[in-house]
Amino acid sequence: MLTKLDNNQLSVTLQNFDFFLTDRYVFFSGTQVFCRLSAHDWFKGSTMMSMQAKDVYGVSQWGRGLIDITQQGDIGLRNPRMPDQAAVALPAILEELNERGIKSPVLLRVAAYLEQEIARLNTAFAQAITKTGYQSVYRGVFPIKVNQQAQVIDRIVDIGRPWGFGLEAGSKPELVIALAHRLSHDALIVCNGVKDAEFLRLAILSRKLGFNTVIVLESPKEAETVVEVTKQLGIEPLLGVRVKLTNQISGKWEESSGDRSTFGMNTDQLLRVVDMLRGKGLLHCLKLQHSHLGSQVSDVNDVRRAVTEACRYYTELCAEGVPLTHLDLGGGLGVDYTGEKRAGENSINYTVEEYAANIVETVGYAMDSANVSHPTIVTESGRAVVATSSMLLFNVLEATLYDAPDAPEVDPDDHHLVHDLAAVAGYLTTPRVQECWNDARFYRDELRALFRRGHVDLRQMARAERIYLRLMARIKALVAAEDTSALADQMAQVADIYHCNFSLFQSLPDVWAIDQLHPIAPLQMLDQPPDRRAILSDITCDSDGRIDRFILADGLAPSLPVHDLPDDRPYYLGVFFVGAYQETLGDLHNLFGDTNVVTIDLRSDGGFDLLHEQEGDTIAQVMTYVEFDPVDCIAAFRSILEGAISAKQVTPRERKQIMSAYRESITGYTYYE
Ligand SMILES: Cc1ncc(COP(=O)(O)O)c(C=O)c1O
Repeated sequence: MLTKLDNNQLSVTLQNFDFFLTDRYVFFSGTQVFCRLSAHDWFKGSTMMSMQAKDVYGVSQWGRGLIDITQQGDIGLRNPRMPDQAAVALPAILEELNERGIKSPVLLRVAAYLEQEIARLNTAFAQAITKTGYQSVYRGVFPIKVNQQAQVIDRIVDIGRPWGFGLEAGSKPELVIALAHRLSHDALIVCNGVKDAEFLRLAILSRKLGFNTVIVLESPKEAETVVEVTKQLGIEPLLGVRVKLTNQISGKWEESSGDRSTFGMNTDQLLRVVDMLRGKGLLHCLKLQHSHLGSQVSDVNDVRRAVTEACRYYTELCAEGVPLTHLDLGGGLGVDYTGEKRAGENSINYTVEEYAANIVETVGYAMDSANVSHPTIVTESGRAVVATSSMLLFNVLEATLYDAPDAPEVDPDDHHLVHDLAAVAGYLTTPRVQECWNDARFYRDELRALFRRGHVDLRQMARAERIYLRLMARIKALVAAEDTSALADQMAQVADIYHCNFSLFQSLPDVWAIDQLHPIAPLQMLDQPPDRRAILSDITCDSDGRIDRFILADGLAPSLPVHDLPDDRPYYLGVFFVGAYQETLGDLHNLFGDTNVVTIDLRSDGGFDLLHEQEGDTIAQVMTYVEFDPVDCIAAFRSILEGAISAKQVTPRERKQIMSAYRESITGYTYYE
């Protein structure tokens, strides 16, 4: 039974819960149900069932059973090792971290999630191999470039050891990192990218220590350098060749896949390398064939097509007498950021298990058809291994609201356009909402033009702005009540702006650069209807530092449903699945540095352990990144202060106060504290 919250009488019997669960305006909180039937009318009633808050943000779609909404309306983390246990609330984790002096913004890594993804990938291949009777094994490698942080790499190596999980190095520094790890004896280090003689020397020498370091030849020229270095060292290398597949994948990386891929050799180059290695007596070292489809492959059929093509190269090379044993299919395993489970830019139409099964089946079939032994299957999945395990959590600092609770009286002497603007309220009804929106903007813009030319004074302009904002409040409410309104998208122009304590350029570079979508949601109050819509603006003073595309339960939206900011506690937002690429692609725009980073593990008793804490950059640290010496800056500031004392601008006591403010800043966090 529902009762209207104000005096109007209305009652609805809750006979069919399904109806209410699909209605975007219904929220359950404990035993209470809130239902929105029109813009202003909220109904409150009770249900005998204890139900979770309505999932406006689509958490159940994209949360992968790991991110969930608690009974108290918080976003919580589920422990994959104990699926029946209640989720640990993220606001509570943040509070506890805050008590320990770890402030937001925080990049939170969850060890159990990394563990789960590595186990899932390896198990998926192992099961597909058993199921299809495939006659060889899977040996995955993690591409260091996807997350180079020591904490992450160390953990991946530890977790991956039982599966012989290795590393991919795309540069000299990454090879140096890989060689500092004790990998299992059968794990690979796959060296991709452009390599100079020094890179090649280190890779070949590492063979002496028992590392299975494979040098993937990217070009005939690189092959020549390998031959030279091999001769100098007198040690046989493990070699691979990178082939350029012609199949294009759909999705964000379509343009850089296939023929237009900048890496890999075409058939002519490939045969030149094979002939050259044969001529130099090194063909027996060529064991691996590599190809990379592109990142975030959204359609599993693209994987099948590309693998079929890769297999053609493999079997043909075998027919040429190349003693290949490993087929490396690169990265590309995608992440379902939106939870839509379809082939799209930010979603995928397959599971890890389907990905593995498709690869194993395709390779097995192709090899059997060509009468070639089954190779060890290698993939270089990066995104799918680390994306889920990190989330960026930050507080909202303040809100710029684009509406007003009331409108001022118009002064009889006000310009007639102010009167026209105020008159819009008189004919604002649902059928005329577009007309009113057009009129309001027109009158407001005309008044702004008149203000600029000096024909309207500041007080009149302020009255007009407030009348306009009041109209916006009413228009937004009408549009929100009309699900199908064509105006819904335009309302993003008058969405509130929530100013948040993070830097898009430092923490979410792909959101800025390639329109990557990540799930974003408030971490608390999800048992209460979010009655505002906002875009998010970061703390940099760059107009690009904003997020205005969001994943919601009913599709993408240009603004995020949010709550009024509470007065008595922080309002936190979370951006999920940020473990891949974001950390090292981030830059120092406005000199906002690394955030605090915390790795936790979820305990079996429902709590969490802090495994590792890494303090975010101080101002002094980011200054050194741009070649400023903090000591020099302190000295320079001190000398300016001394000058001010001599000029009697400040007293010695003020000097002390100003100097310590400067010193304190220089040792502090770059974010809002
Ligand atoms: C050669 C190579 N391997 C692996 C990867 C990782 O790809 P993903 O993160 O899509 O798994 C990349 C990334 O682009 C790559 O260039």
